[in-house]
Amino acid sequence: MIINPQVPLHRLILSLSEALDHVHPKVADHQQRVAYIATRLGRRMGLTGQDLLDLFHGAALHDIGLIGYENRIKLVHLRQLEAVSWHGEVGFELLKANPLFARPAEIIRYHHVLWANGQGAEHGGCVVPLESHIIALADTVELSIDRDAPVLGQAESITQKVTALSGEQFHPDCVEVFRDLAREEAFWLDAASERIYSVLLRQVDWPVLTIDEVALGPIAETFARIVDAASPWTAVHSAGVAATAVALAERLNFSPRELHLMRAAGYLHDLGKLSVPTSILDKPGRLTKEEFFAVKAHTYHTFRILDTIGGMPQICEWAAFHHERLDGSGYPFHHTGDDLTLGSRIMAVADVFTAVAEDRPYRKGMPSKESLAVLQELAQKGALDSDVARVLKDAYGDIDEARRREQAQYGAEQQQLQHVMRQQTPFASQAVCPAGV
Ligand SMILES: [Fe+2]
Ligand SMILES: [Fe+2]
Ligand SMILES: [Fe+2]
Repeated sequence: MIINPQVPLHRLILSLSEALDHVHPKVADHQQRVAYIATRLGRRMGLTGQDLLDLFHGAALHDIGLIGYENRIKLVHLRQLEAVSWHGEVGFELLKANPLFARPAEIIRYHHVLWANGQGAEHGGCVVPLESHIIALADTVELSIDRDAPVLGQAESITQKVTALSGEQFHPDCVEVFRDLAREEAFWLDAASERIYSVLLRQVDWPVLTIDEVALGPIAETFARIVDAASPWTAVHSAGVAATAVALAERLNFSPRELHLMRAAGYLHDLGKLSVPTSILDKPGRLTKEEFFAVKAHTYHTFRILDTIGGMPQICEWAAFHHERLDGSGYPFHHTGDDLTLGSRIMAVADVFTAVAEDRPYRKGMPSKESLAVLQELAQKGALDSDVARVLKDAYGDIDEARRREQAQYGAEQQQLQHVMRQQTPFASQAVCPAGV
């Protein structure tokens, strides 16, 4: 039975925020910690209701534009801001079209603008939101905390450092409020807490939004873009899987609501790849044993991220079981036919079908006849569902066309992201101010 998903938006954001930072122990929870510091500051500065919520979402996703595992380590761990100066603009590009994130997108765009004694109130002719300056300060505070030493012993020196940068780097009003907050030991202990997720859940006492399967679609697509853009080999992979899975599910009589869920699951299926180094995903040769361990963990991470959000069990299992096989030969749970619902079986077929059609560093994409033969063989072996494989074979032309169409459309927007990244400047030279600013 399909339960109408009611996904709490703040849990979705927190889990996706956590997933983005799940690359290195020194980076873990960076954005969540910044979200804690920023919302404590924002509240004291008088932000309430939707404004506070937008600050929370913007802070929890402020580095969303850091495409690629290695780039995130470059910035958050190695502090090489110059090398990834495009990430504010990419974050803006990723979120700006979604009405839920229009305001956080603006906030994220300018989170590295210096106050510069007042000049930072604007950038490229656009007003820089106060929330961007709040995040800038919160970001520096979080990155200044040495995770290997007791945080209370660092409070004074970090406060002094931030105070010295008031006016030049940070908005003086933000510094003033921060100095006040910094007197509270609990503030520091919370900011450095290993249980930051639950600290933040308790902090959310403003109106909580829930979203349904329709609103989930564009968010799923945004996160797929981040996963896919990390590697040229998989630049449009998730779109192909989503389109194929929906086309198969349509022919297997899924309801319109289930098709929305299937589409979101297709876009989210490789979410756990955020935790796998791009150098491994793109490796042209054979993977070592250790590298293959990292790859095998990706669907486990997909499962844990989606399961933690809660409220969308179908999406979670359809997305996360795409490497499971009916004969138990898959990973990471070694489920068998009894555990795998039709939705999960469809996703497994859609993933293999899309993957074999795409080029990989170690082989060329296969033409239709060969890719159908691969599916056929896996179905005969008892690894993939033979009924689903037959549906694909019978409607091959139409399903393949649907896959290509969706991948072409998605690919055009992926190229825009690559274009912004290549510019290697903090902001587009011809900044277009968002409406109302
Ligand atoms: Fe940043
Ligand atoms: Fe950051
Ligand atoms: Fe996968």
